[in-house]
Amino acid sequence: MSSPGPAKIPQHVAIIMDGNGRWAKARGLPRLEGHRRGVETVRTVVDAAREIGIRYLTLYAFSAENWKRPADEISGLMGLLDYFLKRELDNLIKNRVRLLTIGRTGALPANVQRELSRVVEATKDFKEWTLVLALNYGSRSEVADAARAYAAAVQAGTEKLADASWENFSRYLYTAHLPEPDLLIRTSGEHRVSNFLLLQCAYAEMVFSPVLWPDFGPADLQAAVDEYGRRERRYGLTTEQIKAGRP
Ligand code: IPE
Ligand code: IPE
Ligand code: MG
Repeated sequence: MSSPGPAKIPQHVAIIMDGNGRWAKARGLPRLEGHRRGVETVRTVVDAAREIGIRYLTLYAFSAENWKRPADEISGLMGLLDYFLKRELDNLIKNRVRLLTIGRTGALPANVQRELSRVVEATKDFKEWTLVLALNYGSRSEVADAARAYAAAVQAGTEKLADASWENFSRYLYTAHLPEPDLLIRTSGEHRVSNFLLLQCAYAEMVFSPVLWPDFGPADLQAAVDEYGRRERRYGLTTEQIKAGRP
């Protein structure tokens, strides 16, 4: 457990980017237009996060449940993802940002998988900044995948059932090499986590912003970080223990 102290700049921020559809609807535009504007917000927020000093930024871009949406919306989203990856590669390299993904990316269209591999490979040596895209991600399927891999390791003798623990199990999650999110933001006024990083956010501070994702800007991110800075992360301790510098 990392020691609780005065909250400052979160090392890892995870964002549920929500509200593209409502943004478009409010303007009488097709939902895809909201997603298009949402992609512009991604670039702005990635840059703003770096300026604030946030080292890890995880964006929930497509959930395992989003396959239930209309086919034309799904293909539009996949097209935007392909466009985003092609357009951002130079920018990521220039800013020394490593791209990673979490989720069952093997089910994404082949052209998207190709672009993803290309960008991941081209940025893999950057250490300063990490952008994680959650794609075809769902916490429950992540846990199922991890449980399967953990059980296989027990069968193969590389793990012992008697040593089963959160520390050992968490090494089989998609997020094995990432720190846990310190701050979880959801935009658009919804107050739920929609199957996103349920275990990893066990001690994340949560900030819910009423702003729709296409309108979310650097000032909104800064406001969420400021709110985080005012929180006391207690991890089960008392305020008095924390003030006394325990444990
Ligand atoms: C978030 O915006 C983007 C994705 C889920 C891909 P929505 O499309 O969920 O927007 P609303 O919630 O309908 O406004
Ligand atoms: C969560 O948003 C998924 C993403 C932001 C990618 P949704 O809009 O799909 O979530 P629900 O359906 O409102 O819970
Ligand atoms: Mg939504």
